[in-house]
Amino acid sequence: MIRLDDDNARPFLNDDALRELRPSTLDAHRAVLDKTGAGSDLLGWRDLLLEPNDALLEDIETTAAQLRRNADVLLCLGIGGSYLGARAVLEALTPYFSDEETRVAPPDDHPHSEDFQQHDLETEVLFAGHQMSGPYLRQLLDSLEGRSVYVNVISKSGTTLETALAFRFVRRWMEEHFEAADDRIIVTTDPSEGALNELRAEKGYKKYAIPRDVGGRFSVLTPVGLFPIAAAGIDVRSLFYGARSEAERLDADADAHSPALRYAALRHALLKAGYDVEVLASFAPRLGRFGAWWQQLFGESEGKEGTGLYPSTVQYSTDLHSLGQYMQEGQRLVTETFLIADEPPKDDLTVPEDAANLDGLNYLAGRSYHHINRRAYEGTAKAHTEGGVPNVTIRMDRIGPEALGEAIYFFEHAVAVSGYLLGVNPFDQPGVEAYKTAMFDLLGRP
Ligand code: PA5
Repeated sequence: MIRLDDDNARPFLNDDALRELRPSTLDAHRAVLDKTGAGSDLLGWRDLLLEPNDALLEDIETTAAQLRRNADVLLCLGIGGSYLGARAVLEALTPYFSDEETRVAPPDDHPHSEDFQQHDLETEVLFAGHQMSGPYLRQLLDSLEGRSVYVNVISKSGTTLETALAFRFVRRWMEEHFEAADDRIIVTTDPSEGALNELRAEKGYKKYAIPRDVGGRFSVLTPVGLFPIAAAGIDVRSLFYGARSEAERLDADADAHSPALRYAALRHALLKAGYDVEVLASFAPRLGRFGAWWQQLFGESEGKEGTGLYPSTVQYSTDLHSLGQYMQEGQRLVTETFLIADEPPKDDLTVPEDAANLDGLNYLAGRSYHHINRRAYEGTAKAHTEGGVPNVTIRMDRIGPEALGEAIYFFEHAVAVSGYLLGVNPFDQPGVEAYKTAMFDLLGRP
């Protein structure tokens, strides 16, 4: 379950301001549930949780298990909402450094655990098509020589330049390297429209459909995110059902004190009080990409009509040694949201005693990294509060599939409520077209 601690934010806000926001927060929440707010035709990200398609989950698990038997690499092509969610979960749940001992294995009761156990588990998931760099793609493809490669091209529109361009190169590379290249390519796209459907009709690729009523940044729990995540051996069912349990909790008994609604209201009050920037800070390196997913979710949902908190992310304690000075003493326009996992990691280290103690660290002997890191978080929250940075802490039980699913839904629901509080449509992104129009003009697109 996701919890929220706002002790370090409330002193920066007038109690009346928060109290006055309660009715509108509950109205916004109700508008999400009843589909009466702006953009409500794009609330499919809730429907797919409330009416789970277990046959689809089963298909994703089976296809991913088959792929893991044959693939050294799954190369995913996609950008924005067609990439950030999968990458966030993968980075959170796969080992920092991969080898036989540390690889992710499914639990024994996983429907395909036998498949996993009998076959090589090492399918590495790599990404391309999320920028425009010839050297990146060239070097990536060169590095794949001699490996068994499968491809998942993910684009709802099928027209996104970064992804489409990368796919042109990757498709050709696959055809040059594998006899049955088309059997190694999976497309994830609109149910029937777009160039990927045309290519698929020609080549016979396996396809997953992205529901029309789910926008890119809300699509991590569709095949967009679930297939690459399953291909890495992660338990997508727990991820999915973790999100569903958070949705059910909020639907059943939300009040103005529910964490997701409180978070939305606090952010709104802080924006009104002059805090224009929200920084999501985690103390676990493996949550770094989750911050990138969160940044798109909030940036694209709220940043329109001249309003919205500017979302930014930091990785502590690393960034305390770069941005710590600004956070403590720079312009007082930043609010900080700490994303914390309570349970210590299973493979933590404990500081050993050292007879000579020349480094003077024996005062830490017997303590774990988790313990020390936790004190770093507590010290940072205290110092930043005293320095004039309001901060809230969002707590997950642990960094695992279920808890990440809960966190995904928590933020999706919070941003919908938050967008309605701002008076904007949280589900569109009209502003991203402007650069594309200018770029395609310059490129001479017919
Ligand atoms: O959230 C969004 O809508 C965007 O970030 C899109 O996901 C991104 O632009 C990729 O679009 P597409 O999936 O159509 O290639």
